Amino acid sequence: MKTRITNLLGVKYPIIQGGMQWLSKAELAAAVSNAGGLGIITALTQPTKQHLVAEIRRTRELTDKPFGVNISMLPDAEPQDKTIEYFEAVIEEQVPVLETSGRSPEQFIPYLKQAGIKLIHKVPAVRFAEKAEQLGADAVTIVGFECGGHPGMDDVTTMVLVPKTASRLSIPVIAGGGIADSRGLIAALALGAEAVVMGTRFVATTESLAHSNFKKWIVNARETDTVLIQRSIRNAARVMKNAAAIKVLEMEERSASLDELLTIISGQVGRQALHNGNIEMATLALGQCIGLIGEVKSVKDVIEEIMSGAKDILTRLQQM
Ligand SMILES: Cc1cc2nc3c(=O)[nH]c(=O)nc-3n(C[C@H](O)[C@H](O)[C@H](O)COP(=O)(O)O)c2cc1C
Repeated sequence: MKTRITNLLGVKYPIIQGGMQWLSKAELAAAVSNAGGLGIITALTQPTKQHLVAEIRRTRELTDKPFGVNISMLPDAEPQDKTIEYFEAVIEEQVPVLETSGRSPEQFIPYLKQAGIKLIHKVPAVRFAEKAEQLGADAVTIVGFECGGHPGMDDVTTMVLVPKTASRLSIPVIAGGGIADSRGLIAALALGAEAVVMGTRFVATTESLAHSNFKKWIVNARETDTVLIQRSIRNAARVMKNAAAIKVLEMEERSASLDELLTIISGQVGRQALHNGNIEMATLALGQCIGLIGEVKSVKDVIEEIMSGAKDILTRLQQM
């Protein structure tokens, strides 16, 4: 299966593992790349530029295939010094692909181009996708309302965002949000995307560093078991529906301050929960496609089943 994205990224399959803070480290990213997709490690998981450089080198030891780094930024703030250093690390280490999210990577684009690094900017709305193309991104990922993490503030679904974005842009589009199997891949391609990005499905894999309690919870969860929090601070996030998320919603209802919210939503609380297995204590990103995940599998099995299932679907469609 060849698309402009498989050509651009130099990968066998049009499947990308989106950056996931605390979870997408070298082991997971390399497993995805080795299985024919594009694995992505997250910069924010690393405390410093030096740590990120070490993680990039560790990924290179585990795979000789292309992989990416994700740099997530806050929507309404100038990039911090640490963020700038992450960009330096990606450029100095000549990482093949960079996935950015949260805010425009505009100021860094000339340097990325000069270094020959492919830029995928991930956005939750068509207007941001158009802006990314104008600024020179090589591809855009559009994520819909169903997605784990940040679906934006407009509440528009993948089913609507993907075709609209694909018809507005000349550069290739990657679809994300709600995709967990071969049906999702073929649907996304039918909508005009040239690859998919998956986060939630890869959390429940043997190579993911999430605690087994989290993986087990996903396998037993229904599609109704996520919730949107952080709307009050205009940074909506889809997370597992647990005690922490319900508490945050209560706090938002009474207009709690950001400092108060941070006692629960801070990334450090999430990191602890993912490692110690106390998954009720933190807000943990997950998408509605948890309802489609019935088993913890190896990354290789997930990807191979998607590709072989895709073939079967195409045959079935052709017979209609
Ligand atoms: C546990 C988890 C952590 C995530 N962390 C990040 C992150 O740090 N940066 C980012 O850009 N996206 C993050 N995402 C979003 C994914 O990269 C991807 O865009 C999204 O999961 C796609 O939708 P899906 O969950 O329906 O597959 C995260 C998603 C999950 C499930």
